[in-house]
Amino acid sequence: MSDTRNSFYLLTDSHFVSKKQWVEGEPFTMRERGDQIALKASPEILDAFIEKILADDETEVVIFTGDNVNNGDMESHYGFRERLERLTQAGKKVYVTTATHDYCGAGDDENGFSACRYTATGTEPCEFMRKSELLGFYYDYGPKQALSLHEPSGSYVVQVGPGVRLVMINDNGNGRSHCGLFEDGVKWLGEQIDAGNAAGDFVLLAVHHPVLPPWEVFRHMADFELYGGYDGLVKMMLEKNVRVVFTGHVHVHNIRKYADDSGRWMLDIATTALVNAAGMMRRVTVDTDSGICDVRSIGFDAVPGLETNGESAYEYLYHLNAPGIFEKLVDLAGTDYQAFLSLAKGVLPVDKLEKHPHLVRWGVKKLKGLKLSTVAKWGGGFGKMAPEMKNDARNKKVWDALKVIMKHVYPGDAPFTPETTEYAAFESFIAKLDRLVVRFKIDAVRKLIPPGSSLAEMAEDFLYNNRTGSDAEISFSLKDGDE
Ligand SMILES: [Fe+2]
Ligand SMILES: [Fe+2]
Repeated sequence: MSDTRNSFYLLTDSHFVSKKQWVEGEPFTMRERGDQIALKASPEILDAFIEKILADDETEVVIFTGDNVNNGDMESHYGFRERLERLTQAGKKVYVTTATHDYCGAGDDENGFSACRYTATGTEPCEFMRKSELLGFYYDYGPKQALSLHEPSGSYVVQVGPGVRLVMINDNGNGRSHCGLFEDGVKWLGEQIDAGNAAGDFVLLAVHHPVLPPWEVFRHMADFELYGGYDGLVKMMLEKNVRVVFTGHVHVHNIRKYADDSGRWMLDIATTALVNAAGMMRRVTVDTDSGICDVRSIGFDAVPGLETNGESAYEYLYHLNAPGIFEKLVDLAGTDYQAFLSLAKGVLPVDKLEKHPHLVRWGVKKLKGLKLSTVAKWGGGFGKMAPEMKNDARNKKVWDALKVIMKHVYPGDAPFTPETTEYAAFESFIAKLDRLVVRFKIDAVRKLIPPGSSLAEMAEDFLYNNRTGSDAEISFSLKDGDE
């Protein structure tokens, strides 16, 4: 029977902003729109998840893997720590690491965040967290209970329960181009994994930045968004038989597997930001007898205390995220141009849009009327479709399919598998673009494509789950040699 003490909840990217840090007005509304996450509702969202955790008396351990607050200000850190204290008072063991949003640069690294309070008309400076103060501030939530603490980075190892150890890597690096451990930290990490293995424990890792790129497009466009030294960490995991690293930062739900030529493998299980429309946490359970690690996702239906103007919490929050803003902009462009311009502020060049309302309305009308069959014809794929698929393509709109794709960007698991009309239409069109990019040597696009890849391959990540089949859940063996 499974030992319930070997379960833990994982929450990441809560981007908590204290209510003391802002008043209603354009400055903070613009900040929220620019960051494209639900900053105003961040306390209510975090509390909704905490209530779920408190209602589960079988799971003792709760971990947070960074970007706990949004902008390094102290008021938000105090508010966030109060929530941790609430969990510990209820008997939970809480382990925390931090990331770049949790402190402000003091000129000694590449972190450019600066904390401020948002007034009705602007911002004013406020007390902020320095990187060197983080370890002390969160000492009671992980470092204090640690089997081993690597003080320079703030990384540590905790015993989740009998037979399971978790290495909480604090990948603070230089705050931008290298968010990873330095040489002494890498050495410490290797020693900790060895110590766990020698004790006969299963060793799991957690770190803020992703170790495997969640999407093909991410690999070369933004290497600095990955864990600094990710290739070295993958190698270490394979050599030392560590099967899983839990990550955050990219704000998307994503499970990706890497296997080398000799069949050794590891998983990067990325969890979406708590403050997304489809914010989720994960519950991880390790059965030490069978060695099976089971990972599930838990979202929310409602956010108590959140004023949503009659919408569901999801609908309300969706229109604060990038895909939701875009969807709303397209709708408003055709119906209410003033409202369109007002929502575009901070996202699109409003001065240019103001001058060309007819052009924008024309473009939006064309986009909304576009059929999948037209796109398939452009790509040369329509003729190859079976008669039923041709009919389907004539009846379906590109915009409807794009809305579905956008809805799945953060929670993962888009539904357009290779047998669908949507896949066939988009695939043929993008394959045509690939050919055009090569034929006309369009370098601006070519340099975005990783070697050996293509636009079609990059787009596939967004059409369906071509990774492990589910970004929401997975069961796998932690035992050496198991598939
Ligand atoms: Fe984040
Ligand atoms: Fe981050």
